[in-house]
Amino acid sequence: MADADIGLVGLGTMGAMLALNMAEKGHKVAVYNRTLSVTEDFVAGAGELAKNLVACDSYQALAAAIRKPRAIVLMVPAGKPVDAVSADLADVLEAGDMIVDAGNANFHDTNRRADEARDIKVMGIGVSGGAEGARHGPSIMAGGAPEAWERMKPILTDIAASYDGQACATYMGPAGAGHFVKAVHNGIEYADMQIIAEAYGLMRDGMQMKAADIGDVFAGWNNGLLASYLTEISGKVAAATDPESGAPMLDIIQDRAGQKGTGRWTAIEAQHLAAPVGVIEAAVAARNISAAKDVREAGEGLFGAAPEPLTLNLDMIEGALIAGKVICYTQGFEMLRRASTAFEWDMPLPAIAEVWRAGCIIRSDMLNDMASSLRDDPDRLLMFAPYFADILKTHVPALRWVVGASLGAGHPIPALSAALAYFDAMRTGRGTANMIQGQRDFFGEHGFERTDRDGSDFHGPWAAKR
Ligand code: 6PG
Repeated sequence: MADADIGLVGLGTMGAMLALNMAEKGHKVAVYNRTLSVTEDFVAGAGELAKNLVACDSYQALAAAIRKPRAIVLMVPAGKPVDAVSADLADVLEAGDMIVDAGNANFHDTNRRADEARDIKVMGIGVSGGAEGARHGPSIMAGGAPEAWERMKPILTDIAASYDGQACATYMGPAGAGHFVKAVHNGIEYADMQIIAEAYGLMRDGMQMKAADIGDVFAGWNNGLLASYLTEISGKVAAATDPESGAPMLDIIQDRAGQKGTGRWTAIEAQHLAAPVGVIEAAVAARNISAAKDVREAGEGLFGAAPEPLTLNLDMIEGALIAGKVICYTQGFEMLRRASTAFEWDMPLPAIAEVWRAGCIIRSDMLNDMASSLRDDPDRLLMFAPYFADILKTHVPALRWVVGASLGAGHPIPALSAALAYFDAMRTGRGTANMIQGQRDFFGEHGFERTDRDGSDFHGPWAAKR
């Protein structure tokens, strides 16, 4: 009987959690995994929720179980598996049905799939919050045809996290818009994680603090402007003890970061959009550098690493983090604004800040203030909004002090340094690009604007002398 509200393919951790979340909210879910025993075990282990789950042993059975127009959520690995499953589903679906890719897809792939799909509608939804979020309330960034969103909206808003009673599931625009917003979310996630890691490094190497004490500091910061999921878990990570050795867990974890690629996509797309996202780029580069452990150790042997101790104070590190965070989010929202214009997406910037307030990895109290500032004036640089300008006036001196002292003593803090560089550039009315323009005109006759006249194709006196 075709009475399931939705289908779901892929019962790995994230898919299973999403299916249970939907079932718990009263939606009947037809589920399919390519290994039948996985599907059967999943439904058998779902307890009371099994009444809202329909185990399917084929794509035909899946299509037959779902009410029309059918919507099928894919929770399979990004890339080729999504193409392969979509092709198989195309054989059993009809015009007007929809495939909803809920993985971390590259938005270019989602755009392509939407173009190629003909009469089947393709949605790309960014889902953030890890397994816990998928089970109890993720943040959902949806892209695709408006009618597909209308079909999916009741289910997605039911399963999403909520903030002040408002569901964290929002339509971002056509085709790949949802996956694009998710990629920028992950770029910001990388940057936020990196500035926190840099603050940890300053406490560990600059102030010779123990991991447990650093955990207490993060826990304290989580009661102030830095209150966020990432600050909270950083405190818990720093406080944890390795059950095997009894040593602080952080001291046992190798300093080599992994990455699946979404943060890198943000840096790549930012270049295409001419969006300055230096803090995110620094964070991606820092992960790459972290992976080259052998080379770093060789460098330490060659140049002698051990950064000098610093006379730092914790309030200043907290201030530096606050300023760095405002600047990095400013860059992320600027990138979204540029994408919205370049791709003609008409993306709702304040609503993006709102959808990130709960459920996702970068959720934080500050995002509520960002949403308010963007609502007041969506076209203004976020850090120029009065609330955030005041925060920067208060905390940039700490950022400057921490960056200056750290660089002087040899502590690498690339993301905080990039934040300060952006801030200083953005409050410098007269920059130095006149020299760039002079150089370009000198070697290539590229022309320049003058400060004293209209027009853009003036040349310097050097051409005649060459
Ligand atoms: C989320 C996360 C998640 C991310 C993984 C790993 O919003 O829930 O961003 O989607 O993909 O946590 O990301 P990396 O391997 O790139 O660090």
